[in-house]
Amino acid sequence: MSDAYASLVEAARGRPFAAVVGWPIEHSRSPALHGFWLKQHNIDGHYGRLPVQPTKAALGELAAFLRRTPNALGCNLTLPHKVEIVPLLDRIHPAAAHIGAVNTVVKLADGRLEGRNTDGFGFLAALQEGAPGWNAKAGPVVVLGAGGAARGIVAALMQAGVPELRLLNRTQATAVDLGVAFTPRDGRRIAIERWDDRSRVLEGATLLVNTTSLGTKGGQPLDIDLRRLPASAVVDDIVYVPLETALLAQARARGNVCVDGLGMLLHQGRPGFEAWFGQKVDVSAAQRREVLAA
Ligand code: ATR
Repeated sequence: MSDAYASLVEAARGRPFAAVVGWPIEHSRSPALHGFWLKQHNIDGHYGRLPVQPTKAALGELAAFLRRTPNALGCNLTLPHKVEIVPLLDRIHPAAAHIGAVNTVVKLADGRLEGRNTDGFGFLAALQEGAPGWNAKAGPVVVLGAGGAARGIVAALMQAGVPELRLLNRTQATAVDLGVAFTPRDGRRIAIERWDDRSRVLEGATLLVNTTSLGTKGGQPLDIDLRRLPASAVVDDIVYVPLETALLAQARARGNVCVDGLGMLLHQGRPGFEAWFGQKVDVSAAQRREVLAA
């Protein structure tokens, strides 16, 4: 067993525990968000971080560790493990199977490991919180990006009843794959549009979502002209460093309701916490402040 596992077990001091697993993992805010709930509800448990290399052997060791450690409840997975973990688990929840990625592992009562995906839940819950008046069925939505995050978001939006989803990605072939995977059989459409048309396809949209990494601090900006976006549309950016991206600042200035990326991060943690520690939780302004300061 590597030192990282030994340190995690030691930090848990016999209490039930979960952890966020990634490579690298030092900058994850998940310990802050779960730590907040543990304190808030006076739960004698632990949530740590575990660096695991992106190899099949290392992920196999993780699964074996979770199975054999009695007080291990499960884990969250972040980059680059969300897809590679899937074949090493015992059960995959249907929604996670559909998305093809797992961000939450829950050890069931019989010791088997179940993979779930709560990204779509987190996205919709944050959207509902930030823009309570938004109605999925009211009109077309525009989604920028077709990476890992987009898969959960597109699946959730189609399931929520969006009548038409316009999907754009720099690499169009990836958007086509996503369109094939998530187009329902009831006649609703996922329209694949050209990345260069991103300012034009905003006409009539009720929601614009950025799932790309563009706009992240230190990275490239997202270049888009919002003139054609209705003033009544909601703009949702899943980037949360910075919290107020240039996209959100531009949208806010013209009167659009804005949803920042921190809400999705917080809400996606709820189902895992509830399954592991048996306590219903919600997000709060105090938790937002604590996670931002972490
Ligand atoms: P995540 O899991 O966070 O979605 P990802 O799978 O690496 O991360 O996806 C990153 C997204 O940002 C992709 O849609 C990517 O577009 P490509 O599929 O063409 O790579 C998009 N992206 C990253 N850098 C970009 C850039 N400079 N211009 C346009 N899109 C970019």
